[in-house]
Amino acid sequence: MVIVRACQPADEPFLRDMLYHAIYIPPGMPPLSPDVVDQPDIAPYVRGFGRQVGDIGLLAEQDATPCGAAWVRLMQGYGFVDAHTPELTIALLPPFRGQGLGTLLLEALLDAVRPHFQQVSLSVVKENPARRLYERLGFVTVSQNGDSLTLCKRLTATRRV
Ligand SMILES: CC(C)(COP(=O)(O)OP(=O)(O)OC[C@H]1O[C@@H](n2cnc3c(N)ncnc32)[C@H](O)[C@@H]1OP(=O)(O)O)[C@@H](O)C(=O)NCCC(=O)NCCS
Repeated sequence: MVIVRACQPADEPFLRDMLYHAIYIPPGMPPLSPDVVDQPDIAPYVRGFGRQVGDIGLLAEQDATPCGAAWVRLMQGYGFVDAHTPELTIALLPPFRGQGLGTLLLEALLDAVRPHFQQVSLSVVKENPARRLYERLGFVTVSQNGDSLTLCKRLTATRRV
């Protein structure tokens, strides 16, 4: 059974792995070196995660073993929109993809973020199939930079009656 729980500072090494998995590699291209996540433009997505105001993350676990994560952070990354909009990152380990877990994790993260921020943003390569998931959940394109799109999702309060 898969459970979803809040990220803890001790989860940073796993988030680092997930950051690596979140980098899109076009079909037929060789894998990137694992230390790509230490590059100055990539490392800020996870470095010290949980210790900065606005850090919100969820981790999916199966039988107490992490299998994916989704998180937001206020930062000036590839999906930067403005100083009040955190950037979202999501990835699952390959065997866990395509079974609905990403949808579950993303919806849970959006629910967790909604009380704190009016919107979230992200950067996605145009041909990444993840784009369909984002658009299905209401993300819209706000800008384009070469092969990448910046998407935003407005987070309106859900009204319970
Ligand atoms: C993106 C990701 C988190 C989605 O989780 P998931 O559990 O596979 O998705 P679900 O089963 O809930 O929903 C299916 C949707 O996921 C996306 N998806 C499925 N397989 C995918 C894959 N290998 N890579 C990227 N996205 C994928 C598609 O949008 C798919 O929609 P479709 O059925 O209309 O084609 C997961 O596939 C993944 O980790 N992909 C690699 C990392 C990545 O691309 N992260 C986003 C960077 S911007």
